[in-house]
Amino acid sequence: METTHKIFFKNSSDMCEVESETVDLLVTSPPYPMIEMWDSLFSSLNEEIEKALKEEKGRKAFNLMHYELDKVWKETARVLKLGGIACINIGDATRNINRNFQLFPNHVKIVNFFQNNGFIELPCILWRKPTNSPTKFLGSGMLPPNAYITLEHEYILILRKGENKRKIPPKSEYRYNSAYFWEERNKWFSDLWVDIRGVSQSLNNDYNKKKLRERSAAFPIDLPYRLINMFSIYGDTVLDPFWGTGTTSLAAMISTRNSIGYEINSEFMALFKQNIKKTKKLVDLINEKRLLQHVEFIKRYKKQVKDVKYKAINYKFPVITKQEIGILLYSIKKYSDIDNEFIIDYEKFEFKPKKK
Ligand SMILES: C[S@@+](CC[C@H](N)C(=O)[O-])C[C@H]1O[C@@H](n2cnc3c(N)ncnc32)[C@H](O)[C@@H]1O
Repeated sequence: METTHKIFFKNSSDMCEVESETVDLLVTSPPYPMIEMWDSLFSSLNEEIEKALKEEKGRKAFNLMHYELDKVWKETARVLKLGGIACINIGDATRNINRNFQLFPNHVKIVNFFQNNGFIELPCILWRKPTNSPTKFLGSGMLPPNAYITLEHEYILILRKGENKRKIPPKSEYRYNSAYFWEERNKWFSDLWVDIRGVSQSLNNDYNKKKLRERSAAFPIDLPYRLINMFSIYGDTVLDPFWGTGTTSLAAMISTRNSIGYEINSEFMALFKQNIKKTKKLVDLINEKRLLQHVEFIKRYKKQVKDVKYKAINYKFPVITKQEIGILLYSIKKYSDIDNEFIIDYEKFEFKPKKK
């Protein structure tokens, strides 16, 4: 098994390198309109945005910023296959404009775009982003009635291109090998994720690299990893048009999917190359953790329910449903790269839990 990962350093409002209807899944997090850290980026894309911000015309700046994002969404809609899923991580913004505190609902704008462009909205996920800020008091603090709610969640919008689901051959081996465990399904397919914590330690242990990840507002690798496992199968292609430090590509590598990334700022490549070196170890750690958690789960389940009917084919443990019997995880054998294209070679992940 082999996957390919291509990165293009350019504006993703033009993804001419990608043919129409060839991408299976979109996983991305754009710059958030009206969040100060992205003002200069949006202003560099359209000088009217800088002017609107200077003149404190909040609504105008907000609309213009979304107009820039819409150009990328339009290209995304072109390259996604019919039935393909778009997962978009977005937070709303709050900001004082003319000393008036107000909300800029980014998620509403994005949902509107996709609904008007042939997508069906599916139930979304709210996830709690860990925050370091101790101050929750905005407005009148402890005195009613003019205090404000603190935003502590972000959205993962989930939309499907077209009315119909993707067609996958009924006996596709890849599909059955890509199954997740019953207990993972119960957790992953909840509309509320409270267990996704900050950036994985393994991608974050160098001070300068940490700063770079902060500057790109990188999401924790668990987030794209889960979404990729939920909404695609082995060998699929995942696109991230706002690639940042490449967390989506790393998650795709770890999940045995292909990926394509677009990023306007090429300085993140060095960090990506550093992180790739860690994927070989990381994939084994993640696989082992998943399988060990499953074995522990089965022990608890057996105590309560007794009978577990099915046995996995590729590993020596029982599974709850027939759909799980083909589960197969991969290890990274080796990787090579030429320019901005990375090729990963895989082999079966062997599960040898240490006896206690
Ligand atoms: C929120 S960050 C993405 C972080 C990424 N998920 C990660 O884990 O590192 C958004 C990224 O999109 C990039 N960007 C913004 N507009 C872009 C555009 N039109 N084309 C390509 N990249 C863009 C920014 O430079 C930034 O790195």
